[in-house]
Amino acid sequence: EKFFTVQTDFKGKKVMITMGPTQEALDPVRYISNHSSGKMGLALANAFRSRGAEVFVVSGPISLNVNKSDFHWQDVKSAQDMYEAASKIHSQMDICIFAAAVADYGPAEISPEKIKKSDSTLSISLVKNVDIAAKLGSSKKRNQVHIGFALETENEAKNAQSKLKKKNFDMIVLNSMKEAGAGFQVSTNKVHVFHASGLTAQSDVAPKDQIANLILDQIKNIPVWV
Ligand code: CTP
Ligand code: CA
Repeated sequence: EKFFTVQTDFKGKKVMITMGPTQEALDPVRYISNHSSGKMGLALANAFRSRGAEVFVVSGPISLNVNKSDFHWQDVKSAQDMYEAASKIHSQMDICIFAAAVADYGPAEISPEKIKKSDSTLSISLVKNVDIAAKLGSSKKRNQVHIGFALETENEAKNAQSKLKKKNFDMIVLNSMKEAGAGFQVSTNKVHVFHASGLTAQSDVAPKDQIANLILDQIKNIPVWV
């Protein structure tokens, strides 16, 4: 009698997942960052692992309980660190998931000493960070699959589809901030999926581990030429 069916549909696949926020240092004790929890990225990492893939995680600072030894796990802080770690392994990957909330800008310079307060206002000059997905997307090989994420508050489908094209993704997952039970710090999510092929799909509000498995099912609709 069979009690469990073990799904191994991603066996033999190497999967990279960027996840979490990035931290852009201002001085030795301060940084600019965002509210990404890393929950969706970790749910995807677990789903791929349980479906047979070898998973390479490049994670910004997160505070989730995780058994890092289940993965090839690399901790990073800044967008630049994340880019360097991801680009080192990129060429060996079959599937790349860009789930990180990468800070778009970082301080133009990092003060070597703690910035002291003064009586006047403080202005910080920011410069644009490297776009990890776009940069690796420009060297994507024909047998590699790239998946992006988008979080939009307006013109959601249009903005997501323009990111799909711009970053050379095969599929993009849109998180809607407007949907109840979706977003950064919650454990449920609702997503729309747009394929480069034109195929679209949407989920109900569901726990992030269930959403992760739906995303993996959608990835199987991507035609890959080996
Ligand atoms: N991304 C990335 N590197 C960056 C910025 C974004 O790899 N420096 C990836 C994200 O991980 C995500 C996708 O690109 O998969 C879209 O991120 P998003 O922040 O929605 O898009 P941006 O191009 O940064 O545009 P904006 O923030 O202005 O909407
Ligand atoms: Ca951004």
